[in-house]
Amino acid sequence: MVKVTFVAHDGRRFPVEIEPGMTAREAALFNEVPGIDGDCGGQCACATCHVHVDPAWIDRVGRLADDSMEADLLQFAEGTTTESRLACQIKLDDRLDGLVLRVPEQQY
Ligand code: FES
Repeated sequence: MVKVTFVAHDGRRFPVEIEPGMTAREAALFNEVPGIDGDCGGQCACATCHVHVDPAWIDRVGRLADDSMEADLLQFAEGTTTESRLACQIKLDDRLDGLVLRVPEQQY
């Protein structure tokens, strides 16, 4: 299992565990973590699964590629930072065990 902690805007922490190979979006939705909507079903088409990767983890997760569809979507999201990613594009494996993701105040 891969452990991921989602940190809400108000500081509440939501530690979850999920099978390797699933995405951070699925980890959030399957465990009812508030603030991750994932409206498009994980198709990289809505940006309602926006998260800020904890700075300690961003190099391991990987930064947003400038010329990607993910970057195109995130340019219109609220509060995008250099640690922004879409949770549906973060595939979880043992390398990411212990990952910390911060959930923005809103997705719209
Ligand atoms: S779920 Fe729609 S972009 Fe991630």
